[in-house]
Amino acid sequence: MSYTIVYDAAELVVGPANDVSGGVDAVSVTIEEGSVLDTRSDAAVVIEDGEVAEIGASDELVRQYPIENAATAVDAAERCVLPGFVDAHTHALFVGDRSDEFEAKLRGQTYQEILAEGGGILRTVRNVRDASEEKLRNRLLDHLDVMLAHGTTTVEVKSGYGLNTETELKMLSAIAGGDDGHPVDVVPTFMGAHAIPEGADADDYVDAVVDDQLPAVADQGIAQFCDVFCEEDVFTLEQSRRVLEAGAEHGLTPKIHADEFERLGGTRLAAELGAASADHLLQSTDWDVRALLEAGVTPVLLPGTAFGLGEGYPDLEPYRKRGAVPAVATDFNPNCHAPSPGFAATLACVGMGMTPGEAILGITERGAAAIDRNRASDGAAGTAGTLTVGAPGDLVVIDGPSHRHLPYNFGVNVVETVLKSGEPVVSRHP
Ligand code: NIG
Ligand code: FE
Repeated sequence: MSYTIVYDAAELVVGPANDVSGGVDAVSVTIEEGSVLDTRSDAAVVIEDGEVAEIGASDELVRQYPIENAATAVDAAERCVLPGFVDAHTHALFVGDRSDEFEAKLRGQTYQEILAEGGGILRTVRNVRDASEEKLRNRLLDHLDVMLAHGTTTVEVKSGYGLNTETELKMLSAIAGGDDGHPVDVVPTFMGAHAIPEGADADDYVDAVVDDQLPAVADQGIAQFCDVFCEEDVFTLEQSRRVLEAGAEHGLTPKIHADEFERLGGTRLAAELGAASADHLLQSTDWDVRALLEAGVTPVLLPGTAFGLGEGYPDLEPYRKRGAVPAVATDFNPNCHAPSPGFAATLACVGMGMTPGEAILGITERGAAAIDRNRASDGAAGTAGTLTVGAPGDLVVIDGPSHRHLPYNFGVNVVETVLKSGEPVVSRHP
C-alpha cells in the first residue's frame, strides 16, 4: 500500500478540542488559549488513498510506516503541521486591479461613494464582462497558485462580477474550470445579487436574478451556494429574502453578506432560512450572534476587509461567552487584495483579539463548516479543516514549531510544504 508520512512534527494540529460551533447542542466552555485546539507533540500523520489514515506518536508510526517505503515522506522536525486552510469567503475570480481606489480611500473616499460613482464592484463587472472565459479561468488559476502557496487547499469562490445571465454563467463555468485545473478544491457560489447594475432599478434587477439568472444557473448545475449583498443602497432585507428563497428552491444553499456597513436584519434572515453562513457581521449585535449560533449558521469574519476599510473590527465577546469560534476568511477581492489566510489570522489576533488557536480554527475547521464541508453538515466520515482519521489528506507544514508561528509572522510566508490528498503540491525551503 502506497502511503505518505509526515513525521517528527514538533506540533500537529488535529482540530477543535471541543465543539466550538456555539450551536444549541454545543457545550459552552470558556475559551482560553490552549483549550480550543487539539494538538499533539512529536507526532506523525499517515495518508493513504488521499485520506488521513493515522495520526499518533512519530516514533511508533515511523516504525509501522517506514520512511524509506513511503511514496512521500516529509521531515517536519521543529515544524508545526496544520490542516490545509479552508478559505470560506472569496471573490477570487476577477480581472483588472483597483489600486487607484486603494489610494482614493486613503484620501478619504468611502467604499460606498466609490461604488455609487460606478467604481468598485461595478468597475470589476465591466472588466469581467469584457474578458473571455479562458482569460477568466487563467486569472483564477494564477490566484489559486498564490493561495495554495499560502496554504489554502479548499476555497469558496463567488460569481457576482457579471450581473447578467451570460456573464454570471461564464464566471461559474470559469470557476469550475479552475477547480478542474488546479489542486485547490474550489467551492462555487452564485452571487448575481452582488450589486445593482448601472442604470438598473433594484426591484427590476432582483426580478432578473430570480426569473432569469437563477433558473439558468440551476440548469448549468455548477453553483452550490447562493449569496446576496444585504446592505443599504444595495439589496434590502426583502430583496435579499427573495433572492435567497428563490436560490433555495433551485437547490442552492443560502449565504449572506450581512451587517458590513449597516445592520439591516440579514442575520435574522440567515437564521430563518438556515443559511450555511452569514459573513462580515461588523455591525452585528449580541442578539444577532445568538440568533446565528442557535440556528446553526456559521458566522464568518473577514478581518482583511475591516483592516482595508479602516471600519474597526467586530467584538468577539458575543461568540466567546457562548463557547463559539467564528470562521475567519480572507475575502480576497480587488478591494481586499490579501489572499493569505495566515495574514487574516494575524489580523484576527491583533485586530480582534482572537487567540492564535481560535484564529487557526477560524481558517480551518470553522471555514469548512461555513461551506458545508465539515462532518456535521456533509455526514461524511472525514472533516475538511481537520487532521482526523478519514479527513482529506490536505495539510500544511510551517516554518515554526507551533501554530502560534502562523499569526506571529506577518509580511512573510511561513508555509513550507503543502500536501493535497497526500500529494506534495508546494515545497519551499526558506
Ligand atoms: O465581501 N461587500 C461586498 N462584496 C465584497 C467586495 C467585492 C468588491 O469590492 O469587489 C466583499 O467585501
Ligand atoms: Fe464578499
